[in-house]
Amino acid sequence: MKQDMIVILDLGSTENTVLARVIRDLGVYSEIHPHDITAEDLKALPNVKGVIINGGPHNVVDGEAIDVKEEIYAVGIPVTAVGHAPAKCDTLCEVLPADESALKEVVKPFLFDICKAEPNWNMKNFVEDQVELIRQQVGDKKVLLALSGGVDSSVVAALLIKAIGKQLVCVHVNHGLMRKGESESVIEVFKNQMDANLVYVDASERFLGKLAGVADPEQKRKIIGAEFIRVFEEEARKLEGIDFLAQGTIYPDIVESGTKTAKVVKSHHNVGGLPEDLEFSLVEPLYYLFKDEVRACGLELGLPHSMVFRQPFPGPGLGVRCLGAITRERLEAVRESDAILREEFANAGLDKTVWQYFTAVPDFKSVGVRDNARCFEYPVIIRAVNTVDAMTATIERIDWDILEKVTKRILDEVPNVNRVCYDMSPKPNATIEWE
Ligand code: XMP
Repeated sequence: MKQDMIVILDLGSTENTVLARVIRDLGVYSEIHPHDITAEDLKALPNVKGVIINGGPHNVVDGEAIDVKEEIYAVGIPVTAVGHAPAKCDTLCEVLPADESALKEVVKPFLFDICKAEPNWNMKNFVEDQVELIRQQVGDKKVLLALSGGVDSSVVAALLIKAIGKQLVCVHVNHGLMRKGESESVIEVFKNQMDANLVYVDASERFLGKLAGVADPEQKRKIIGAEFIRVFEEEARKLEGIDFLAQGTIYPDIVESGTKTAKVVKSHHNVGGLPEDLEFSLVEPLYYLFKDEVRACGLELGLPHSMVFRQPFPGPGLGVRCLGAITRERLEAVRESDAILREEFANAGLDKTVWQYFTAVPDFKSVGVRDNARCFEYPVIIRAVNTVDAMTATIERIDWDILEKVTKRILDEVPNVNRVCYDMSPKPNATIEWE
């Protein structure tokens, strides 16, 4: 690891990730560690130039006063605090400024004047470091990766291909519930352009078979999740001599914010529900990255913009947007209408401003007119929402002309559809997805 590091010790603040991100924005790598880190563990971390204790409101967790270990002051690395500081320590500020640029000004002198940290945190260095670390960890062994085509798994794949080439085996399971063109683009980018060792499994029929007649949303999700693991497991068993499993775990998955102190939870057990006898060691090269850094890393590795800035897409895919019991007819209507919506949103630049947008097709029909005759066909529902954390969401006020254009195209181009509706519901009371 070539990069200088600032260690944040969490004394129960809710703002750890904000502080880490601000420091990284200033070009200095930063990690959050539990408040009770020992001097020995602190010394073992690479290139630590300074420590910032991030004080909580009262440095009390679950009714107990907490403090850092005295011994860390004797390590010889500059230590300061923000927020409510422990007695032994100077503070940079009593209250963390809400504004990130103000916070940057507060921490800058500590980073650069006192700790003399080099602003050498960038994606080029990160990729070089990771390539080195992955090679050290993996040696000449093989690594397996479930490559969904989502941002995180795609960036992990690109990084591992750079580090170990064909020692990485990517398995892409097409459950038949992917969006239009999605599996094709995984094959194009990873197999054709990056020359990856890619196993493509078309399990569409198998998934649709299992889902036939199942209308309950929870049941559908369970079937899709369980079947996914089964297919992946079968592929894993066919492959010989795999020692490692790569995962797209990222930093927000690890750092718990809130009133508890952040715990660095490492998952060394089998993740994703694979059976016990399929035991792998984990390779998690994005472990310390925030989402925007994952995207920057993807761009650095040459992944296409559309893949790196892909909107969130649920694991069960179009399965939860083809409402009720899935039929091929309605699944195609979801897929085609979603493709039209995405195309028109991109044309209007809305793909850069709207957080998530998609269509859903319910399992009832309405009366309409087609070719001067009565028709009885499905509606398509358009949903477009904005959110920060997906816990709550507001609807997007889409320009009427764009909605009219999308509606016309869906009615003209998508078979079995005679009506288009716009979902006006925020979350709560609705959820973002319909199922
Ligand atoms: P809801 O519908 O709960 O969705 O408001 C919040 C966000 O989560 C996504 N979502 C999922 N993502 N697996 C996922 O990886 C899932 O099973 C799943 N269900 C919902 C949803 O698209 C939205 O962004």
